[in-house]
Amino acid sequence: MFSPGAVLAAQATVALVIVGLVVGVPAFGTWREAAYQALGEPVAQPIPFSHKHHVGDDGIDCRYCHTTVETSRHAGFPSTRICLTCHSQLYTDAPVLAALHESGRTGIPIAWRRVHTLPDFVYFDHGVHVAKGVACVECHGHVDQMPLTWRAKPLQMQWCIDCHRSPAPHLHPRASIFDPRATAVSASEAANLARLMHLESQQRLTDCSTCHR
Ligand code: HEC
Ligand code: HEC
Ligand code: HEC
Ligand code: HEC
Ligand code: HEC
Repeated sequence: MFSPGAVLAAQATVALVIVGLVVGVPAFGTWREAAYQALGEPVAQPIPFSHKHHVGDDGIDCRYCHTTVETSRHAGFPSTRICLTCHSQLYTDAPVLAALHESGRTGIPIAWRRVHTLPDFVYFDHGVHVAKGVACVECHGHVDQMPLTWRAKPLQMQWCIDCHRSPAPHLHPRASIFDPRATAVSASEAANLARLMHLESQQRLTDCSTCHR
């Protein structure tokens, strides 16, 4: 039905696609890793904001600043107005806060540098994780000990899938979801939480279309 030339062209195309996948996918993975902030390296910010002070010492709740973490895909960054609830009175003359007051005057938001960024082809949602009892500390580590914020976990596909295969040990009771010092619960409590949360099946949580839609 097809000329020998067309068959050869088709075979060559298939071979090229296979070579492309074998070489390209791992190379792409390495390229992705290079696009992330280095694991465990503090990221310099326009204002040296410290979770260690604000969360560790002062005990301010995550939701005070990351206002949409329970309700939306994105946790969000605090507006200048939120910082100024305290800093219109506290440390007003400190040079480190000059950029904050400048932002308050001009209305231009502070350009926080991202510590975590997933590629656009990955679907992630904070709200679902928080609602089902996955604590911030599971994915962001001990921010209460970070003078500048760093990435504590890999964020690669394998990391997501490892937890999605067996989420129960990573669940926490409601009261400790925002606690940066929360530790793992006992195996029996984890099993109990998994039951209460009516978790999706492992099959659904590891299906490609769950994270790539
Ligand atoms: C007083 C406000 C404030 C509070 C409270 C706060 N944060 Fe933040 N958070 C910030 C600001 C400002 C940034 C951006 C600068 C930076 O990365 O440190 C940030 C950044 C982050 C980032 C990095 C985001 C990224 O990928 O760029 C994570 C993760 C984070 N916060 C987690 C938490 C957790 C978990 C808590 C509660 C235990 C918390 N924060 C409490 C203000 C706050
Ligand atoms: C609920 C009150 C409160 C809010 C909201 C708040 N701060 Fe602070 N901030 C403090 C206190 C208290 C200190 C004194 C430091 C300490 O804890 O010893 C401080 C200190 C600082 C310092 C001085 C350096 C340091 O860490 O000690 C910087 C910079 C700073 N804050 C930035 C910010 C930014 C940026 C925001 C908004 C994202 C913010 N703060 C929101 C209370 C607040
Ligand atoms: C299951 C893992 C996981 C949990 C639990 C989690 N995060 Fe995240 N967080 C991520 C990932 C992944 C990103 C990068 C998202 C992106 O690039 O779209 C991120 C990004 C962020 C950012 C940057 C802004 C944004 O919305 O993208 C902030 C701030 C943040 N997280 C705060 C929190 C806080 C506060 C909690 C707890 C209430 C929390 N996260 C719980 C995985 C998690
Ligand atoms: C520490 C454990 C953990 C990690 C890490 C984790 N997840 Fe999840 N994820 C969960 C749990 C638990 C649920 C809730 C399942 C349910 O709704 O029953 C969930 C749900 C989801 C859902 C919604 C599933 C649905 O049925 O709609 C998406 C999408 C998702 N995760 C994406 C990701 C991505 C992308 C990553 C990595 C960047 C990730 N998750 C990392 C535990 C985790
Ligand atoms: C639980 C969430 C999750 C599931 C399920 C998932 N992926 Fe991914 N995938 C990711 C994340 C996160 C990345 C980004 C990884 C990175 O940047 O290193 C990714 C990246 C990729 C990439 C780019 C290459 C790479 O490794 O970075 C390919 C291709 C891919 N996924 C295919 C698939 C296929 C095929 C399936 C089903 C067998 C699947 N994914 C299931 C989260 C998921």
